[in-house]
Amino acid sequence: MTSPGPGGPTPLSIDPTCRIEFGPGRIGQLPALIAATGHDRAFVVTDHGLRAAGVLEPVLKALRAAGLEYAVYDEVAPNPSTANVDAGAARARTFGTAAVVALGGGSVLDAAKGISLLVGNPKATAADADELWEAADGLPLVAIPTTSGTGAETNGFGVIEDTTACRKVYIGHPSVKPRIALLDPELTLGLPAPATAATGIDALVHGIESLASRGANPVSTAYATQAVTMVSHALPAAYRDGADLDARAELMLGAHLAGQALSLSGLGLVHGIGHALTAHTGTPHGVALAAVLEEVMEFNAPAAQGPYEQVARAMRLAPPADGDWARAAIEAVREIAGAVDVKRPLRTLGADRGMLPAIAAGAVADAVTTNNPLSPDHTQVLDILTTTY
Ligand SMILES: NC(=O)c1ccc[n+]([C@@H]2O[C@H](COP(=O)([O-])OP(=O)(O)OC[C@H]3O[C@@H](n4cnc5c(N)ncnc54)[C@H](O)[C@@H]3O)[C@@H](O)[C@H]2O)c1
Repeated sequence: MTSPGPGGPTPLSIDPTCRIEFGPGRIGQLPALIAATGHDRAFVVTDHGLRAAGVLEPVLKALRAAGLEYAVYDEVAPNPSTANVDAGAARARTFGTAAVVALGGGSVLDAAKGISLLVGNPKATAADADELWEAADGLPLVAIPTTSGTGAETNGFGVIEDTTACRKVYIGHPSVKPRIALLDPELTLGLPAPATAATGIDALVHGIESLASRGANPVSTAYATQAVTMVSHALPAAYRDGADLDARAELMLGAHLAGQALSLSGLGLVHGIGHALTAHTGTPHGVALAAVLEEVMEFNAPAAQGPYEQVARAMRLAPPADGDWARAAIEAVREIAGAVDVKRPLRTLGADRGMLPAIAAGAVADAVTTNNPLSPDHTQVLDILTTTY
């Protein structure tokens, strides 16, 4: 596949991602999908919140009805740690060969990738993440996202906190890229409104940053454009009425497409700042992104007129009277963030002024920032943080 460019067609090499099974009630197909991985046993990875919300039990019921042997590890914590992944892997090794079924948000999906990989590498621990990229294969993974946000079902890495070394590690391997993404919007009907907002904004940012990324190509742009259309339309509706299945379905598929987009293009400075803010304050991922989204778009606008026009058109905005599509896109993003009540000043998120230089340094150093349309320096990021403080 090629795309026209000033220096001639740009070659592209794109691996297909996972098989997608999308639709309300699709969870009933789980036993057959596990069989499609070549296994007749399942190791289910999830968290306490999913159990308490009543999402886990119907899934286990479907496994029992099909006569599948299974075990459950439900101890995954938000922003999971290496210790968390090691504990899950110990349980999975005891259970033995099986398909790993990840039922949850990005935290569960990420932890499940690490657990699956460690089962294939019995002597390794999660802290060995940097060496595991070339290691033996992990167990096959079926990913069942229960938030519409991270798109973690589209890639083979997890972001894990190494609590001993105080750093984020990327644990991953091609073999733990989910074989199947089971996207059943009924599983998200009970997601509370604040979590719907935070995870949905994550998906919107994936679409916007993918369009403006230096790594964008015609395939990522196609995914990202459709993702922005679907997420910007469905997020306010799903926030207003969590039981609106049409909105939940559109949001879920949109978030998945945004994940496909970012896996091809990379992201940008909103994520660079978001990661650093979460590392310093523990702010949930989507809330951290929302805190700086419009301000980063203002900063990028001089170098992102075309992509932001694409964002505005994807949102089906009327042509602006002054022709300033980028401004129209930023205003529309502000309106969505307001409608889902997700934007907070940094000072209310546990950041104090003295932390801002370190957050700025973290954002500039983060690998995601290299794909931002403008390369920010420390002072420019500090300005953004001060404006949003
Ligand atoms: N691998 C990737 O590509 C990627 C991309 C972005 C973010 N991430 C990671 O994903 C994590 C964030 O994931 P997240 O935003 O999905 O949140 P999360 O997985 O931490 O879940 C947040 C809370 O929502 C609850 N929950 C989830 N689904 C629910 C449902 N349907 N009903 C009721 N409660 C439900 C969970 O129990 C949890 O308490 C971070 O660790 C981040 O680093 C990974």
